[in-house]
Amino acid sequence: MATKAAAKPVEALSPKEAEAELARLAAEIAENDALYFQDDAPRITDADYDQLRVRNAAIEARFPDLIRADSPSMRVGAKAGEGFRKVRHAAPMLSLDNAFAEEDVADFLARIRRFLALAESDAPEILAEPKIDGLSASLRYENGRFVQGATRGDGREGEDVTANLRTIADIPATLKGKWPDVIEVRGEVYMEKAAFAAMNARAAEEGGQIYVNPRNSAAGALRQLDPKITAKRPLRFFAWGWGFASAAFAQTQSEAVAKLVDGGLKVSPLRQAGRTSADLMRVYAEIAAARPDLPFEIDGVVYKVDSLALQERLGFVSRSPRWAVAHKFPAEQAETVLEGIDIQVGRTGALTPVARLKPVFVGGVTVTNATLHNEDEIERKDVRIGDTVIIQRAGDVIPQIVAVVLPKRPKGAKKYKFPDVCPVCGSNAVREIDPDTGEADVVKRCTGGLICPAQIKERLKHFVSRRALDIEGLGEKQIEEFYERGFVRAPGDIFRLHQHKDEILALDGYGETSVANLLKSIEARKTPALERFITALGVRHIGETIAGILARHYGSWGAFAEAAIAAADGDAAALADLSNVEKIGPIKAQAVATFFAEPHNREMLAGLIYEPKRNPDGVAPVDAEKPASSSPVSGMTIVFTGTLEKMTRDEAKARAIALGAKVAGSVSKKTDLVVAGPGAGSKLKNAADLGVKVIDEDGWLALIAAS
Ligand code: IVH
Repeated sequence: MATKAAAKPVEALSPKEAEAELARLAAEIAENDALYFQDDAPRITDADYDQLRVRNAAIEARFPDLIRADSPSMRVGAKAGEGFRKVRHAAPMLSLDNAFAEEDVADFLARIRRFLALAESDAPEILAEPKIDGLSASLRYENGRFVQGATRGDGREGEDVTANLRTIADIPATLKGKWPDVIEVRGEVYMEKAAFAAMNARAAEEGGQIYVNPRNSAAGALRQLDPKITAKRPLRFFAWGWGFASAAFAQTQSEAVAKLVDGGLKVSPLRQAGRTSADLMRVYAEIAAARPDLPFEIDGVVYKVDSLALQERLGFVSRSPRWAVAHKFPAEQAETVLEGIDIQVGRTGALTPVARLKPVFVGGVTVTNATLHNEDEIERKDVRIGDTVIIQRAGDVIPQIVAVVLPKRPKGAKKYKFPDVCPVCGSNAVREIDPDTGEADVVKRCTGGLICPAQIKERLKHFVSRRALDIEGLGEKQIEEFYERGFVRAPGDIFRLHQHKDEILALDGYGETSVANLLKSIEARKTPALERFITALGVRHIGETIAGILARHYGSWGAFAEAAIAAADGDAAALADLSNVEKIGPIKAQAVATFFAEPHNREMLAGLIYEPKRNPDGVAPVDAEKPASSSPVSGMTIVFTGTLEKMTRDEAKARAIALGAKVAGSVSKKTDLVVAGPGAGSKLKNAADLGVKVIDEDGWLALIAAS
């Protein structure tokens, strides 16, 4: 029901009227949200809905004291103080591979041609555009209306920052024109250089928070729990692409960009097309020249294949698309003094020297340490404590020491002696000899294994880290403290931490709410995705990409553990099977076997994996998502051999994996299908011996035609 006040302009409202009007708007917006989101039955037009929100915001701006606790403008994904609700992206948010030099750009183009079997003269058109130095966000539009916005997070799940994104004027509440029912627009939230400088100057005067660069400032603003604070920050948004779209809406990237602009979104200027690496280098040079005068920060140039059909064919390799690359601007360099060298011990016992530097501002941040890689690197560069050194920093990469400024070396500076024992547990530190080459490993490792507190702590930190189990509220600091106090010594102890609740409450910095939240987020991770769980184990050579492949290949923890234990117990066929999984190979297979052969690790797993009687607090990894079961090849193990003529073998394999098949490198009893082109040799013979079905390329194309 409209009240008298509803007709009045905001400027004419008395405080009393404003209060009543805000109450009415809160109720009306909530009711329409429910009709729209829950019942799928909106009763008012999008434009009228937006008007309600605009009026609500205008009244709140005039009467900030009257803002209600249940105001629509306060509605973030979660209650203040609890952080943001997690949202799953409908299509993962991936990252880009980097190129640094012309040859990397040429490689990128050659890889594309090779994958698609294109001659140089048929090189596809590539779009080049600035790489904005901001933070990515995904905007979900349903029926043209902005319904949810999220940060990138780990690429699969981000944080629900809808209310904050709604405060950015560059993000339209509704898209103009015709759009797919659902589309996730992707782009970069950023702050212009001038606005950032002005904001920092004001903060310096008023004693507010000062940020080192526009990107950090934009990130801070976007992650405010109170959207009213975000609204006061000068945030901007450039769209650079999209994730999930329920229907196709363009044939090329450039057409899609034009469509985004027509829809009311902003895109970055300076976009140009090219085909050869010389073309792209020319655009790169032009964009680099324009960089100082651009109102926003950029850190490189992104090249993208323009044709969406080719993008689709090219697909992705682990976390980045094959059809795009980021050509980064060169690292910034600075001179500073090396004040000391610390040795850090990692989870595999690697001793890594870290340079402690006199703080220096470079590449947009203050740098206080840099990596020195290993013993040989220190020797080669002859870096000595007290030296003046040149450091460089590119993007998010750890800063490096490029060179020593010898004329500035202090008299009497001594050569650095790398330790022979672990600085944490005192065990010998050695450089293993590779049995095949007879060469010493570049990495010196602590031989203490699980008697070394540093290794145990680092393994625990890895276990809870973002790419592994991602336990919110349990970071490096908490692991250090809980380890020192004996609450957590092995991964399984994390899930029994509730037994130490009272002791944790007695520690500095913990209260009822924070401990309850911590225990809740631990509980929530008791059923991790299998690939995260395998990543969390920290098996040597098994990072998240390989963990993902293993998870999809074996499907369940039980099946994976059974195969791994058989391989560990000396079953040669099991080891060969493991090694035969696409992208695994003998080194990684052996690493899995070695991990499972280690009694400490089996004991650790026994204390970690859920067992109703023995370990009721254990973890039960969730089976890997089953690939599209509608595909005629899903679940099959396929081997490709010989030359294919209509697509390259790489493209065929990538397609098979995308359709839910497993691709193996050699034929065994477990192979379901061999796709053989001309020139196929022993694999074809093995298939005949084992009675495995063989088809040719046309047969393969016919098989997958409908998918
Ligand atoms: S395209 C599949 N274009 O850079 C990912 N990304 O380092 C396609 N970025 O995650 C990304 N400007 O957040 C693309 N013009 C641009 C970009 C851009 C900035 C960010 C984006 C991406 C990151 C990768």
